[in-house]
Amino acid sequence: MLIEDSVPSAAREAKAAGAAAGASATVAAAPPLLSVQDIHVCYGKAEALHGISLHVNAGEVVALIGANGAGKSTTLRAISGLLKPASGQIVWDGKPIAGMAAERVVAAGIAHCPEERHVWPEMTVRENLMLGAYLVKSKSEVERRLAIAFHRFSRLKERERQLAGTLSGGEQQMLAIGRALMSEPRLLMLDEPSLGLSPKMADEVFEVVREINRHGVTVLLVEQNIHNALAVASRAYVFETGAIKASDRSENLLNNPDLLNAYLGG
Ligand SMILES: Nc1ncnc2c1ncn2[C@@H]1O[C@H](COP(=O)(O)OP(=O)(O)O)[C@@H](O)[C@H]1O
Ligand SMILES: [Mg+2]
Repeated sequence: MLIEDSVPSAAREAKAAGAAAGASATVAAAPPLLSVQDIHVCYGKAEALHGISLHVNAGEVVALIGANGAGKSTTLRAISGLLKPASGQIVWDGKPIAGMAAERVVAAGIAHCPEERHVWPEMTVRENLMLGAYLVKSKSEVERRLAIAFHRFSRLKERERQLAGTLSGGEQQMLAIGRALMSEPRLLMLDEPSLGLSPKMADEVFEVVREINRHGVTVLLVEQNIHNALAVASRAYVFETGAIKASDRSENLLNNPDLLNAYLGG
């Protein structure tokens, strides 16, 4: 069940997609938007990732699933430049980015919405959103992006001048996502966006993820709730103790009880 991740596998998928659409099998596959190649990442002397390889094609929603401590957040931190891999490469839009400063990674089009929501409780909703566009110099451009955020998240518009600390958990998650979108990323990485939310609020968050993707943003999603994750994502990678144990299309993973039991606790 272990599927080797490599560019040829991306080519295989594209070919399969092309064949399904009745297209010629000779259509060249586009290279993946993001390719993580055999990265090893350490915290001090402890190696947390033992050679992670994965890819994300433009337009996809891809999920990283697996138990607590498996290395999902560490993978996102390495991609976003918060951690520098000890070895291996990360290729974004054809360019190597491993070890690049986080600010440059944002400027290159990758936004990271981390596990801990980190909204600034003593700042207003509006000010929190503006932080997401800190690289944008033009005031009118920031205003344009704020208008889009408030259009998408009407509940945030109603609370524009309210301190973020007064928002509910779900509203704070929407704010964190809205802030990440203020950099107008091509890839949005979300780390456990439904954590601690009611099932209803979690559904709203996943609906927002779908909508963001419909607007052309590629999504890399980390989720503990595998059924929610596989309902949103078209493919997923299964992590265990710093390695990828399997990767497949979501429907195949859902139809593989042995795998779900082995790695994901059912
Ligand atoms: N800041 C940190 N310092 C030291 N070790 C860490 C830190 N963050 C995570 N780890 C360790 O790295 C491994 C992977 O953790 P993490 O990426 O957070 O897993 P996941 O997101 O899948 O739950 C775990 O063994 C965890 O204890
Ligand atoms: Mg995590």
